[in-house]
Order: sequence, then C-alpha cells, then structure tokens
Amino acid sequence: MARINDHYLKLAAGYLFPEIGRRVRLFQGENPDAELIRLGIGDVVLPLSPAICDAMHRAIDELGTEEGFRGYGPEQGYPFLREAIAEHEFKRNGIHVDADEIFVSDGSKCDSGNIQEIFATAAKIAVPDPVYPVYVDTNVMAGRTGMPDAEGRYAGIHYLPCTEENGFLPKVPSEPVDLVYLCFPNNPTGTVASAAALKEWVDYARETGAVLLYDAAYEAFIAEEGIPHSIYEIPGAREVAIEFRSFSKKAGFTGVRCAYIVIPKELRGTDAKGQPVEIHGLWSRRHSTKFNGASYPVQAGAAAIYTPEGEAEVRSHIEYYMTNAKIIRDGLTQIGMETFGGVNAPYVWAKTPQGKSSWEFFDELLNKAQVVGTPGAGFGAHGEGYFRLSAFGKREQVEEAVTRIRDRMIG
Ligand code: MLT
Repeated sequence: MARINDHYLKLAAGYLFPEIGRRVRLFQGENPDAELIRLGIGDVVLPLSPAICDAMHRAIDELGTEEGFRGYGPEQGYPFLREAIAEHEFKRNGIHVDADEIFVSDGSKCDSGNIQEIFATAAKIAVPDPVYPVYVDTNVMAGRTGMPDAEGRYAGIHYLPCTEENGFLPKVPSEPVDLVYLCFPNNPTGTVASAAALKEWVDYARETGAVLLYDAAYEAFIAEEGIPHSIYEIPGAREVAIEFRSFSKKAGFTGVRCAYIVIPKELRGTDAKGQPVEIHGLWSRRHSTKFNGASYPVQAGAAAIYTPEGEAEVRSHIEYYMTNAKIIRDGLTQIGMETFGGVNAPYVWAKTPQGKSSWEFFDELLNKAQVVGTPGAGFGAHGEGYFRLSAFGKREQVEEAVTRIRDRMIG
C-alpha cells in the first residue's frame, strides 16, 4: 500500500464549509419542509451581468470558428486581461503594478492555498485568529505544523489574536516569522485596516525580511473613503508583499472561477545560502508547470467588467449586497446583538447572545429560525463566541432571516 502524506492526518476536522453542509443536510433530512435561508458560505446569488455574459458568448462563438479557435492559452493569463487589470485596478488608482506581474488563475482559494509551496517547509508562518481556514490547512498539509491543541491551534503556527479589544486588527509579532497572511477587508470579521495599520506591517516585513501574503479578495466592497484597496498603496510594499484578488465576489464568479495574484518583481526571498531569489520567477515557473491557464471564455468574461457597462453592472451588484449587509447589521443591532463589519465588507460578525458558543448558536439558529450562518469558532479559537452572516443572499431572504432571528431567537 502506498504511504500517504501523514500531515493530512493532523487536520483537526473537516474543512469548515463541508462540515456546515453536513449539518444542514442532516437537518434537512429530518425536516424536509423547512425553508432554509443560507447566509453561511459567502456564495453570490445574483446572475452574471449582461456585459459579462455577452463577452463570454462572443468568446465561445469565436472558439467555434477556424480563425477564432484557440488551444492552450498563456499560463499566466491572456495579455488582454492582464493589461485590463493593471490599468483599471491599479494604474487608474495611482498604484504601480505591471501587467506581467499579474498571474491569472481559477480562484483565490487555490492561489492562497498554493502560494506556500514556493517557500521552505521550515518557513515560520503567522496567521490572524480568526482566519480564512485555507491559509492554515494548506500549511498543515505541507508539514509546517505540529498537532492541533483542544481549541484547534496548531503547534508551530504563530497566531495573531484579533479581538474586540484590538479592533480585530492583528498586531505585528514580537518574534520573527517568514510569512504573514493578512486579509482586508477581513473574512470573517468584516473589518478593514487603515493605511497606518498596514504601514506597520510593511515596515515590519522590510525590517525582518518577512513576506506578506495579502488577501484583498473583498476590496471591491470597501465603501468608505481613505481605506486602502491594495497593499501596494503603502510605500515599500512592492518589496515585501504578494496580493491576491478575485472576480468571485466582485463579479459573481464563484462558479465561473477567475482570480489573480500580483507578484512584484522587486520581491525577494532567500535560498539556503542566504542569497536573494526573485519570487516572481519562482511563481511563474510553478504556475506554468502546474496550471494551463483559466479558460478563454472565462477570461473574456472577466475582462468585460472593465467596460463601462460591465463596471456599472458590477457596481450595482456590489451595492445590492452591501445594502443586504446593512439590513443584517441594523436588524441584529436593533435586537440588541453586538455587530462588527458589514460596512466595507459583505460579512457581518456578531457576538453570540447570552455567551452561547458559536456552534450552539449555529444549531439554535438552524433549528429555530432555519437560517444557516457560519460559527466563528470554525475560523479559529478567537472566533469562539462569534457568528458570521454573509450578505450574499437574495434581498427578500435577507429581510426574512432578520425577521426570523428577531421573532424566533430573541422575541
Ligand atoms: C467564505 O464564505 O468564507 C468564502 O466564500 C469562502 C471562499 O471564498 O472560499
């Protein structure tokens, strides 16, 4: 029999969202008539906008012709998309990112999970707590940790507590680490970081040689002025940071799949002899070995969000979801629940009432209100006692969820 990768056996439990799915299916089996409202996983519900659909249709029609047929595309992404991203996401906002520093992929989950591969197994990682579980689990699989403790914290990972007291902002560690995962607007807490807070991280990384893995998958949901959308708005960040961006939530691509990583050419790691190595080249090598590029119609659809019609349609979807976030936040606040986030992010982070545990509240919400949320403890030990509701729902369902929580949970 083939020897397996023992590190997989350290994984504390099932991946969070499948575990929620399992509990929901069990409930549905026992209550087939229950009308569930799903505000758990952040999955979009609005149909793709017409500009995106038109572009994808045109691309498919092209592929059906002699002249327009394309086989393998460039692994890093078609120039038309990389150039559109560089222009509209960065240059237009005064941020220096070149098109050839952008690597198009099939999703940020894969990108943020795969990036650790190009760093040493001995690399020490730091993660906020609570955190998007992919950052942790992929490092466990790669053998960078020991076993988890009773609260699910893995030996060998440096956890950065994000609590109400520190405004859910991770503080720079006092000990040196090699890789730091940051996510703003934050999943799960919905909080954002100011330029001053991000500068502390960039300064830390420049002083210690750490690399920042900056997940900006939710940047399009920032509504307030003056909040950085990109780590590269901070001077010096090009030398120390990789940024992850996604079309999933911004343009409704959770099922279509398209995202990208930015790796500036200035960014360096070191080899075993301490000699500097360009990270951009390593990722390019990895990408072209393990990936054959996102499909042409998908990239054509993604590029359509940078047309005037596409931009307006995407903006209106974002406004729809952010109105949902406000309805959730206001609704929960009115019934006395303490809430965070939901202003610059499509997630509302709420304190569970009467000191209930996250999973207790999850089960109660499911059973009494037939609303599916996400237990904070599933994102880490410091998520215990909190609960996340996603704003990615149909308006009438979001309104109904708030009413049910008020009437069935509290009232
Ligand atoms: C979430 O609900 O946290 C996200 O949808 C998960 C993901 O993007 O993979």
